[in-house]
Amino acid sequence: MKEKKLQPNVYPTQYEKHVKIKDGTRVLLRPLKWTDEDLWINFFYSLSSVSKQFRFLDRHRQLTPEIIKDAVQIDYVNHFALVAIVKENEQDLMIGVVRYRLDPPPDSASIVGAVLDDWQGMGLGTKMLVHLLHIMIEQKIRKVHGDISLENRLMLRLLDQSGFKVIEKDSAGVRHFEFQLSVKY
Ligand SMILES: CC(C)(COP(=O)(O)OP(=O)(O)OC[C@H]1O[C@@H](n2cnc3c(N)ncnc32)[C@H](O)[C@@H]1OP(=O)(O)O)[C@@H](O)C(=O)NCCC(=O)NCCS
Repeated sequence: MKEKKLQPNVYPTQYEKHVKIKDGTRVLLRPLKWTDEDLWINFFYSLSSVSKQFRFLDRHRQLTPEIIKDAVQIDYVNHFALVAIVKENEQDLMIGVVRYRLDPPPDSASIVGAVLDDWQGMGLGTKMLVHLLHIMIEQKIRKVHGDISLENRLMLRLLDQSGFKVIEKDSAGVRHFEFQLSVKY
């Protein structure tokens, strides 16, 4: 049987795939690479202030070398990120990023993600999340958790409709959620 377990710092080609979003655009979903630094910085600065606020919850108003390094230098085992890439004027453009970090290892992880505003509402966030959850299941992650701003009505609704048995706790303007990843998903 093919080895599915991710190896530290080994780029997992097996998780590359193309998807089509609602307007017909073909998008490459692939693990993030260390060489994606410029694409990621461009992605960060292209997010609207609202999307940035919902994604980073008031952290990271300005980028620092430490934040960039933390975002890009992932090891694929403790920290995994999936990016969405389209071609624009023959250049790669990063239009979405979803990621998880083991917290605590080995089988719990936090998740976060964002799609550039111009590309939202076309099914990309859902496709990225489904692919990420599939990877997490293959990596034997059992518990998923994260934080959503109480102002982020769309995400709160999506969480309620997700079909997962979600445990929620609100504090300081943020809803903390957790759910078990079942192999049936
Ligand atoms: C949350 C986010 C990643 C979703 O990405 P997306 O590509 O827009 O998601 P999708 O197109 O797959 O849409 C998911 C659902 O939201 C709905 N939706 C998306 N944008 C919407 C909008 N502007 N208004 C109403 N509904 C919307 C879609 O109809 C879909 O619902 P459905 O499954 O019932 O059809 C994106 O909105 C985003 O980046 N937001 C800012 C950052 C953030 O909130 N991150 C989450 C916390 S870490």
